Amino acid sequence: MTFDAHTIAKDFPILDRTIRDGKRLVYLDSGATSQKPNVVIDAESDFYRLHNAAVHRGAHQLAEEATDAYEGARTIVANFLNAHVDEVVFTKSATESLNLVSYAMGNAAPGNRFHLKAGDSIVITEMEHHANLIPWQQLAARTGATLKWFSVTEEGRLDLSNIDSVIDSSTKVVALTHQSNVLGTINPLDVITRRAHEVGAVVVLDACQSVPHMPVDVKALDIDFLAFSGHKAVGPTGIGIFWGRLELLADLPPFLTGGSMIENVTMESASWAQAPKKFEAGVPNMAQAVGLGAALNYLTQIGMDNIHRHEVELTSYLLNGLSEIKDLRIIGPKTTELRGGAISFTLGDIHPHDLGQYLDSQGIAVRTGHHCAWPLTRKLGVPATTRASVYLYNTTDDLDALVEGVQGAQKYFGR
Ligand code: ALA
Repeated sequence: MTFDAHTIAKDFPILDRTIRDGKRLVYLDSGATSQKPNVVIDAESDFYRLHNAAVHRGAHQLAEEATDAYEGARTIVANFLNAHVDEVVFTKSATESLNLVSYAMGNAAPGNRFHLKAGDSIVITEMEHHANLIPWQQLAARTGATLKWFSVTEEGRLDLSNIDSVIDSSTKVVALTHQSNVLGTINPLDVITRRAHEVGAVVVLDACQSVPHMPVDVKALDIDFLAFSGHKAVGPTGIGIFWGRLELLADLPPFLTGGSMIENVTMESASWAQAPKKFEAGVPNMAQAVGLGAALNYLTQIGMDNIHRHEVELTSYLLNGLSEIKDLRIIGPKTTELRGGAISFTLGDIHPHDLGQYLDSQGIAVRTGHHCAWPLTRKLGVPATTRASVYLYNTTDDLDALVEGVQGAQKYFGR
């Protein structure tokens, strides 16, 4: 199909509304959360309207329909990632997925391949979102393992010059982001996974900012675990994905325990069901899983290659537009080479919060702050940035509005 962002935007009812006294909404905050097309809103509400029942539990027709819809969504996610259906675990968020894998490793007994102890190391990077940083800090603290990290260069790339000493024979886990939510940087996974696997470490990928924006094939990437959230991929909130290679999920202990994740239970003990059930204790977020299925079908119909191409064009257009503005500093790569559509910048001495407020008064929604990546912004010497992030429904009109808005802010603040 021909890609037309103006036509696509019509699928998203919220993009039709006005804000701040009748201004057109220019939504450039999809890195925080994406807007939802009608098909997703309908899928979620139809679940409640027509099929609602607890999945995997009832002996009645509604339970059967709900279970089919929920498991159907799992198949959609598996196809989307080129994964086996039993490798796809529904969680409530990407944050929960990352906590799941790190807590589960912390639960591993001596002898289990995931057992960590003093002398082992966990490798992360300086550009991690707090969700892929704090769980590993906590795991290191609980197990006595050492936390190590790759630093970030001025350009906003990972410094891999010391890869062989950062990832060494002590390394058990390498956890990193596919695409930085602050810098837009896409990390060179091939070099990192090759080295990690050479020393027998597993690779955990935070794919929150990549899965919604480009084709992601877990087999081709040669990773071991992956997390992403539904709400950044035009899906509902309250649903995340944890993916792991089947043989690894078999050895990984559970994180949450309770109903539906067991094989057998006595008064003294319990044994676990196979993955994915082992990791889905309790009645899951069913309507949200079904909504995510509708979201991924919608993205697939448009084509992830088309979406990625469109975003590269928008990113290039915006980088050019912003580079013309006096005193504006892009924080992150300045070309589209290995870079996605999250573009952070500072503007002279105008505080990002003031800039964000001014842009909001013009109908333009951006994110300001440290973007839940405090060590990164501190390292780059900027207390906060303004971030515009693009998606399939954005057009160059939105980007022109942003550039004009930033110039307007300079006049407004007398710069
Ligand atoms: N992680 C989201 C962001 O980068 C909320 O904005």
